[in-house]
Amino acid sequence: MKREKSMLLIVFLFLSSLINQNAYSKEKEDLNFPKGFLWGTATSAYQVEGGIKNDWSKNGLDAGKAANHFEEFDNDFKIAKSLGNNAYRMSIEWARIEPEKDQWNQEGVDFYKKIFKSLKKHGLKPMVTIHHFTNPIWTEKFGGWENKEIIERFAKFTTFLAKTFGDDIDLWLTFNEPNVYALKSFATGDWPPFKKDRQITLYVMNNILKAHAEAYRILHEFDKTDADGDGIACEVGFAQHIAVLEPFWVLNPLDHLMTYFQNKVFNEAFWDACTTGKFDLFIPGLKSINEPFNEKLKNSMDFVGFNYYTRWFIKANGDNVPNEKGELTDMKWEIYPIGLGKSIQLANNYAKKRNLPIYITEVGLSDPNDSKRGKYIVTHTKSMLDEIKKGSNVKGFMFWSLMDNFELADGYGPKFGLMTIDRKIKPSAYIYKEISETNSITEKLAEKYLK
Ligand code: BGC
Repeated sequence: MKREKSMLLIVFLFLSSLINQNAYSKEKEDLNFPKGFLWGTATSAYQVEGGIKNDWSKNGLDAGKAANHFEEFDNDFKIAKSLGNNAYRMSIEWARIEPEKDQWNQEGVDFYKKIFKSLKKHGLKPMVTIHHFTNPIWTEKFGGWENKEIIERFAKFTTFLAKTFGDDIDLWLTFNEPNVYALKSFATGDWPPFKKDRQITLYVMNNILKAHAEAYRILHEFDKTDADGDGIACEVGFAQHIAVLEPFWVLNPLDHLMTYFQNKVFNEAFWDACTTGKFDLFIPGLKSINEPFNEKLKNSMDFVGFNYYTRWFIKANGDNVPNEKGELTDMKWEIYPIGLGKSIQLANNYAKKRNLPIYITEVGLSDPNDSKRGKYIVTHTKSMLDEIKKGSNVKGFMFWSLMDNFELADGYGPKFGLMTIDRKIKPSAYIYKEISETNSITEKLAEKYLK
């Protein structure tokens, strides 16, 4: 009888442990990313390399030695690898390759060849941007992006890159943030050529779209080699900047109207045009853009790529302000992880129509004492994971940036890096490492940052 009782007790304990286990695993959320997910950091040539002479250095925004990546690239990639990364986003500086019109600089080619060799050695898949805000000085002579001559020049440059580096690159971005470039350089006057003309801004957007369409076809024509043996020779897209835009005052219909226009022009116009092949823009007070259908522009994205940083509230007069009640960075950008999820949803409207993958090409913050970055990384990757689970085919995430660097018109003030310019690895880098190495948000990180 005693034996039977103890047997019963054992069976009872065993069964209840099963039930408990079940309850636990039901509670535990699966925080794994899809197999083969790309984890990387992002940089741009002018912001990190050093020693570049282009339209920025000529016009008072000289990056000087920048982060001296020109000399330190091999060690930088070693560090990126040690952080568990398997990808790296970078750009090729046009002025290094074509410093004078139609003169192709062998030294520049050799430098990038060394870069690609080193990336390969360290197991980092390159994602390469062709235009990241800067231009060779000679393009100023004909008015740069204001003049349609730039389209042909950009096409020539792209042809050269495709023929020279096609063996090294499978993932191409024609432009980084064409919306931000057009706005900052031609509407707000912050970046070269410092114009403040909204009408010209629309013409520039039009020229960029045409240049992108040409580049898309050129890359597919001349890059037929599969650099990493995954069966895909060449995928082309661009890095759109998505800002979550919401009306300042929900009860003001004029705030809503302005938010609607800004969403159309800033967030959606480029993706719409690259999907439909039509570029139409109506902005009150400006001459409308109504381009004829462009066959080359239609479906000119193999993936939907975007950079996300923050949310802005829009006022009827067009001003944008951060959420003062939210957590802000030193640049007064709101830390808003849900915004990444919302941006993925917007990207997915375009991606799902043609079964395209999505790449997050930049996410990051300036955080001089690295006190917010760790949590930021966990909450943003979680927001991305939630969208992946809902069905968005996100295939990679590039954190901006590997190291502190030349933050454009703000110089060396802001600090976006996972390491300092003298290559001190910041604590947050180890959090990114934990995620990329395990391809998941570990229980430890979830416990600490997601509760
Ligand atoms: C740009 C980067 C820039 C970063 C932080 C992005 O908009 O692509 O070049 O450094 O934001 O401002």
